[in-house]
Amino acid sequence: MSGSDDRGRPFVAGPESGRRDTLPVGTAGIGSTQAVHAGVPPLRPNHALAPAIAQTATYKFRDTAELVRYMQGGDPDPHREEYGRYGNPTVQELEQRMAALEGTEESLAFASGMSAITTLLLGLTKAGDHVVLFDDCYRRTRQFVTTVLSRFGVEHTLVPATDLKALDQAITPKTRVVLSESPSNPYNHCLDLEELAAVCRRHGRVRSVVDATFATPYNCRPAAFGVDLVVHSATKYLGGHNDVMGGVVSGPRQLISLLRETRGVLGGVLDPHAAFLLLRGLRTLGVRMERQNRSAQAVAMALRAHSKIERVFYAGLVEHPSYPVASRQLRGAGGIVSFIVQGGEQAASRLVDHCQLATLASSLGGVETLIEQPRFMSYFELDEAGLRQVGIDPALVRLAVGIEDTDDIVSDLLHALDYV
Ligand SMILES: Cc1ncc(COP(=O)(O)O)c(C=O)c1O
Repeated sequence: MSGSDDRGRPFVAGPESGRRDTLPVGTAGIGSTQAVHAGVPPLRPNHALAPAIAQTATYKFRDTAELVRYMQGGDPDPHREEYGRYGNPTVQELEQRMAALEGTEESLAFASGMSAITTLLLGLTKAGDHVVLFDDCYRRTRQFVTTVLSRFGVEHTLVPATDLKALDQAITPKTRVVLSESPSNPYNHCLDLEELAAVCRRHGRVRSVVDATFATPYNCRPAAFGVDLVVHSATKYLGGHNDVMGGVVSGPRQLISLLRETRGVLGGVLDPHAAFLLLRGLRTLGVRMERQNRSAQAVAMALRAHSKIERVFYAGLVEHPSYPVASRQLRGAGGIVSFIVQGGEQAASRLVDHCQLATLASSLGGVETLIEQPRFMSYFELDEAGLRQVGIDPALVRLAVGIEDTDDIVSDLLHALDYV
């Protein structure tokens, strides 16, 4: 990993780096060169350096013969499309770039991260099937499985975060999908992805899916560990500027084709202008992530040393239960630092309200540092018992570190802590 742990060592130094070196080539994240160049078409229309926005809902055919040839799969242009809900050249370019960055055969873009997740689950399951989720999955993902999929006869089991033994036991002959998130929101639990893929493969016909929104391909490429499908809320780090929503699923051609069919029916397509913004965001992914990894590590270490902070959840700290796996499988521990403020809910709110640089807003992964108390954001409607049930401490704060100067982010938090 880039950055350093709480003893000032670079993350990859020492025995950890040796272990990572034994993994297949490409398990580490991409570099900044790939973020700028991988999957970029050699020549764009009009010799333009930047992508064009194909702002169109439909496509022309010269005559019926040309249409029929296209429908039969015989059009000489492999990128040709028929209608905007089935594809778009700007979106295709994003998909090509994402497949190159994830190291998968293909990628598919969606209108949002949730559109990617719901289309994936609807595409891969039918009544009578079973899905396993880790209990630290993004709240709306869990909600979709437990309240929507269940209405269509798809059953589910929730297993404790990172518990691969429990996963092994939860898989039944009806299980088709295992859905996980790594690192997870908000506690930064990291799964052993190699082991996850192995467990799913052992059971046959079970697809392993990892929501790698927090990692990005800069920190980790789950497909290199054998994971079947990789999901991103592109709204976060891939876009990187808090100005566009999108989602991406990457994986083998056969599965992506199936999901493309499902997307064409469900309609959660990405707008071409949004695809352009995501293509722009991807070009700076490397430099942003490098900075965010480094700053988040520094923030986590500063908070951990502070007397008013009860506990810090950052996988780049040696005491985090995911530190060993994170140091083997991630390049950096990412830009999210979650922590519990001493003194409870109100003390945490005082910290949030006295930050001057960190902005109170939901979301993460953009250039601006954002701060929130999950208790008042995603989990607002839950009472104390409900919060306990989903494992959210009322004094938990989630900081999404941006690309401002590291010292400024740390100073902002230390200054706000004076008011706690
Ligand atoms: C880990 C994770 N996955 C998926 C989503 C959903 O993505 P979107 O908001 O783009 O629909 C989020 C949103 O916060 C998320 O944090």
